[in-house]
Amino acid sequence: MLPEKVDLNEASLLWNLKIRYDKELIYTYTGSILVAVNPYKMFDIYGTDQVKLYEGRILGTLPPHLFAVGSSAYSQVCAANNSSNNQVVVISGESGSGKTESTKLVMQYLAAVNRAPSNLVTEQILEAAPLLESFGNAKTPRNDNSSRFGKYLEVFFRDGVIVGGKVTQYLLEKSRIVTQANGERNYHVFYELLSGLDQQLRDKYGLLDPDKYFYLNQGGNCKIEGKNDTQDFKALLSAMQVLGFTSEEQDTIFKILSSVLHLGNVYFHRKNLRHGQDAVDIGSDAEIRWAAHLLQINADGIIRALTTKTTEARNERLLTTLNIDQALDARDAFAKALYSSLFSWLVARVNHIVYKGTKQTAAISILDIFGFENFVENSFEQLCINYANENLHFYFNKHIFKLEQQEYAKEKIDWTTITYTDNLPIIHLIAKKPVGILHLLDDESNFPKASDLSFLEKCHYNHALSELYSRPRMNSAEFAIKHYAGQVWYNVDGFLDKNRDTLRPDVVELLISSKIPICYDETQNTYCIGPFPRQPTATFRIHVTVSKLLIKNPAQLFGINLIFQNFPRCNPWFVRCIKPNNEKAPMKYDMPCVLEQLRYTGMLETIRIRKTGYPVRLPFAHFVDRYHYLVPATCLPRGAPSKELCRIILEKAASAEDQCQYQLGLSRVFLRESLERTLEYNRALILEKAAITVQRYTRGFLARRRFLNIARSAVLLQAVYRGYREYKKYRALKKAVLMAQKLYRGKKQRERYAVLKEEIAKRAELERANRERAKAKQQREEQERATRAVAGVNHLEIPAELAFIYSKLDGKLL
Ligand SMILES: Nc1ncnc2c1ncn2[C@@H]1O[C@H](COP(=O)(O)OP(=O)(O)OP(=O)(O)O)[C@@H](O)[C@H]1O
Ligand SMILES: [Mg+2]
Repeated sequence: MLPEKVDLNEASLLWNLKIRYDKELIYTYTGSILVAVNPYKMFDIYGTDQVKLYEGRILGTLPPHLFAVGSSAYSQVCAANNSSNNQVVVISGESGSGKTESTKLVMQYLAAVNRAPSNLVTEQILEAAPLLESFGNAKTPRNDNSSRFGKYLEVFFRDGVIVGGKVTQYLLEKSRIVTQANGERNYHVFYELLSGLDQQLRDKYGLLDPDKYFYLNQGGNCKIEGKNDTQDFKALLSAMQVLGFTSEEQDTIFKILSSVLHLGNVYFHRKNLRHGQDAVDIGSDAEIRWAAHLLQINADGIIRALTTKTTEARNERLLTTLNIDQALDARDAFAKALYSSLFSWLVARVNHIVYKGTKQTAAISILDIFGFENFVENSFEQLCINYANENLHFYFNKHIFKLEQQEYAKEKIDWTTITYTDNLPIIHLIAKKPVGILHLLDDESNFPKASDLSFLEKCHYNHALSELYSRPRMNSAEFAIKHYAGQVWYNVDGFLDKNRDTLRPDVVELLISSKIPICYDETQNTYCIGPFPRQPTATFRIHVTVSKLLIKNPAQLFGINLIFQNFPRCNPWFVRCIKPNNEKAPMKYDMPCVLEQLRYTGMLETIRIRKTGYPVRLPFAHFVDRYHYLVPATCLPRGAPSKELCRIILEKAASAEDQCQYQLGLSRVFLRESLERTLEYNRALILEKAAITVQRYTRGFLARRRFLNIARSAVLLQAVYRGYREYKKYRALKKAVLMAQKLYRGKKQRERYAVLKEEIAKRAELERANRERAKAKQQREEQERATRAVAGVNHLEIPAELAFIYSKLDGKLL
């Protein structure tokens, strides 16, 4: 970002850009306009880390970057989900300054940041870029990959997700298909096709090497250093696959491309007819047969269309022969019609896939139209391109200066008008009725007898006195216009034909007779009004001329009216691409080259008005709604009008030196960019702080809840564990006690057993002694008895008292 206090003049701006460029800082803000100086070398500044870094950040809070613009546009689109908040990124700059690369980078950013990155539509929109580049870009002296058509890309969002896209193309440069200046190439796709197709398919389409084709070899060198056509052909095929092209469609595309090449090699021999009339013969009919075979049309029909023409006079159809120039023109016109039909079909086909009728959703549009051109030889195409750039520049000025100053007057703001170079007179010179150059051209195009020179005469006659117009000193067929970006000399050769952009009826008939739908449908749409009569006739109407289209509504033609019509609802973001040198050399900053671009793009005036003006305008209620956070709620009296609240907020929120940075109008508050940035920055800080507080409480609550849960679980675990441990201990103790009891009881029993055993033994001993005694007694008694028997006392009765004593004795012994 350029420092606020820098004294802005040409030198300081130029020098600042240089210092930054030397430090490899290619992006610089001047206000909210992003200046991008082409590095011609890839830096590692577009990775996902950078996408994340810039996501949701306000412009100006991080170093300048294309992603910051993408991020700001995306945030706005997400904030409101409808078309009321449409954003448009207007990328301008001269050829080779990096518009197309920037477009792709913004698109890549949107694809990466959108909330469904694996979205198929997103991938298809991304893949449309290499496809259209193959068919619409070519090598020019200024740019090896120059877009030869204008592109307006709309990306539709719903809830922050890409839901569709739409490509609108403008003014494909048709002359390139048949002629290229030295050092230039035809459209990339031809070289890619010849380099990438395998031999079998080359045979199928009858193809040779690029240097064998007149339509490809006029520039001298068919190769571009650093470009691999084979690889790019593979990328093209994969893009077609992602976009759902069928193999028949691919085959048709290759057939049309091949037939254009074959047609280019058709040559003619001059011949004189009997009445001195010029005529031609086809030199070799091999190419004609190839083209007829590939396009599925009659070969004789092609020969007829290229060598004769049908004219109608007094309801009679006359066949006249063409001279060699006319025959060559017919051939080229045929090839151009084929290719341009193919290109229109491709864009329609891509839209058919990616455009889902999503009109009501919010959109980010990116405008990438060809840059201002000033070649050694400039023709009708350059006039169209430069006129488109004049319009773009006019709208830029209108947005930045005119409308802004008108708004200040309406809102009664104190303001001293800033002057700027208005390019409206140039636009009038080119397109104002009735004698604007394009009107003159259109009138001449309707005169059958008119020629390019008669058109030039009319231009000289009507504009010779204008200081924006110049006649050549020598007698050459040229005129010059002083454009906003410098004077350009235009050679009028071919102006009328190119403007008519018509095909002879015979050629239209021929194309419509093709069995290939792309040929007959697109021809019908482009070259006929109403259905083409199947019966050959030379009097059907041709469609409007290019100049008429351009004059009618240039804004609509370039899609830019959408941007400015809704001003200020539709929010434009400007990216100004700068080419640092004319040699396409990396990191080489050529001061005069950059200075010229800064001058003609009105960069300084733009910065001046951005800095001194009030580019930010918000309705009071909107302002209060957005910035009331900046002051305590108690300072804002309830029920006070919004304007009063605005005043309070600004007095309190803006510093003393910033008090001159705003004004209150009748219905809006007007802010300078620097104050808006400060307010936005402070608002972001407060919101961030508030968000952090909310996060803190939420996190505290969550952490507490988690802690309590964990604590409860821990206590439970502890309880269970302790229970288990105590249980285990108890079990062990119980086992030990049981064991002790067992041992004790065992011991006790053993003791008792021993006592009993001893007693039993004693008793047994006693019994045995008793028994022995009894036995001894018995023996003694028997002896006595034996003895008494002799005396006869054996049978004496024992007296009762004695028996009792005996019995007692016995018991004791027991
Ligand atoms: N941001 C970038 N980083 C690296 N190289 C870049 C960048 N931008 C542009 N270039 C280089 O500059 C070349 C030209 O850029 P680009 O094709 O975008 O120009 P352009 O403005 O679209 O030109 P034209 O009007 O001719 O289409 C690219 O091929 C690329 O090599
Ligand atoms: Mg480009």
